[in-house]
Amino acid sequence: MSELSVKHLLGIKYLGEKDIQLIFETADHFKEVINRSIKKVPSLRDITIANIFFENSTRTKLSFELAEKRLSADVINFSAGQSSVKKGETLIDTVNNILSMKVDMVVMRHPNPGAGIFLAKYVNASIINAGDGAHEHPTQALLDSYSIREKLGDVAGKKVVIVGDILHSRVALSNIFALKLQGAEVKVCGPRTLLPKHIESLGVGVETDLQKALNWCDVANMLRIQNERLDISYFPTTREYTQQYGVNRKLLDGLDKEIVIMHPGPINRGVEITSDVADSKQSIILNQVENGVAIRMAVIYLLASKIKQ
Ligand code: CP
Repeated sequence: MSELSVKHLLGIKYLGEKDIQLIFETADHFKEVINRSIKKVPSLRDITIANIFFENSTRTKLSFELAEKRLSADVINFSAGQSSVKKGETLIDTVNNILSMKVDMVVMRHPNPGAGIFLAKYVNASIINAGDGAHEHPTQALLDSYSIREKLGDVAGKKVVIVGDILHSRVALSNIFALKLQGAEVKVCGPRTLLPKHIESLGVGVETDLQKALNWCDVANMLRIQNERLDISYFPTTREYTQQYGVNRKLLDGLDKEIVIMHPGPINRGVEITSDVADSKQSIILNQVENGVAIRMAVIYLLASKIKQ
């Protein structure tokens, strides 16, 4: 397979296993490029990309911008907080105004699930979903799987547990789709109140005991509580949540094998993960961030080659 089956990256749900392998092979090449003394390639000199963020971001926004610049694309950045969205402009009008400046690709983060899917129907540009509410965060899941592949050699057959606020997490859903597509075994772990009711229908197991989940897995992906999406209390106190669902050194030392610890960030140190675990050699959290640039270069490069056709 030499090209993606999709024109947009709206979610992992729309990709096939071969798309993921193509993205990983392309990312392998770009990872080698960004470790050279000259970290840039001229591939996208004729492409203009708009990064439009309606929600806060550190890693995703910087990683996309760096990926675009490493590919020599022209880049414009838009943050809703300083824009005419505040004056009542709609999403389609905002994006069409940006596109009339001859923009080829839009990277969008939006608080509403499906915002990218909606936009892709109405505008003539390639759309990359950089996180849409509690729906999907496809490039995060791709960089997560890529980091597992890098650390353990393969994703197929690996046991991965996703721990925490599964109910409000776009990272969880995209990871479930990506991991299942590649043949991993997946469990989710958290308080019942933070697990979606029919999550088993996605082919994942459910475990409410963190110690059992950690004993089962090869990889634990720790998620933060999505406080910005909680309208009610889902557990008694943060201290009790941490006691039951926070990973710490004592828990890891009690396991009969060394597991890999992941976290998409931002980390709430001392809540879902202690500092000694986050900063330990078992943690690949910063490798995930590093791999994010290569994965995003691969996604942008592959989608841009479809625009050029
Ligand atoms: N992982 C992630 O999406 O982080 P940001 O919200 O900082 O982009």
